Amino acid sequence: MDKPIMIALDFPDLAQSLAFLDQFEQPEQLTVKIGMALFYAAGPKGIQAIQARGCRIFLDLKLFDIPNTVAEGMTSIGRLGVDYVTVHSLGGLAMLKAAKEGLARGSQAAGLPRPKLLAVTELTSISELSLREEQHCALPMSEQVLALARTAQQSGCDGVICSPLELALLKQKIKGPFLYVVPGIRLADAQVDDQVRIASPGQARTEGASAIVVGRPITKAADPRAAYQRYRSDWLLEAESAGQS
Ligand code: C5P
Repeated sequence: MDKPIMIALDFPDLAQSLAFLDQFEQPEQLTVKIGMALFYAAGPKGIQAIQARGCRIFLDLKLFDIPNTVAEGMTSIGRLGVDYVTVHSLGGLAMLKAAKEGLARGSQAAGLPRPKLLAVTELTSISELSLREEQHCALPMSEQVLALARTAQQSGCDGVICSPLELALLKQKIKGPFLYVVPGIRLADAQVDDQVRIASPGQARTEGASAIVVGRPITKAADPRAAYQRYRSDWLLEAESAGQS
């Protein structure tokens, strides 16, 4: 699927992640997001176990360090055969370019396609107040997010992670092919949890999302397969009615 729903596998260990995947008849059709908790606990072997189910993997480790260190880290990640990885745009142009070069080096050495490199702009946990008073940033949040997304595009990143709130602005201001991966997704009847800025799958699609990240509404559902199908239908059907595919 070229516009995937990425299921956030926010389980504390590999066993629970695999038990979740084993409920699906065709896990090879799924794209899953693996974050720091699972990767630091289960490492590359955990990735391999999930790849053995045929899933595509978004490895969300949000690298942020000096360019050489990030390049080396990305070279290692490039050998894992994952499909998407993340880096902090705040690390700057040189670091983002180094990330892409490192990723290309690692994947090429392993004879694999280069994973898509996605940049995180400002974390959604940062408020306007902390942006101003802790990060000493003179720009309002929307302009800062746009500036960081532009840096990501200039450096050759394939796209950004953005909240539903930022999606319209970024789509309007950033030209050319660029991926917009959107978390904070909820159907109308879902629990909001700790998400503040939310959209339905169909709304995100209509506004131009390239992919959505959905965690708890699927992973904590009484019937995760049924929940996944509901999110998938909303993501696909609204797109059809909006004339996109
Ligand atoms: O359970 P829920 O659908 O809220 O999970 C969303 C996933 O996307 C989590 O793994 C969360 O950490 C991640 N995420 C997010 N907001 C961001 C970046 C990542 O919710 N800005």
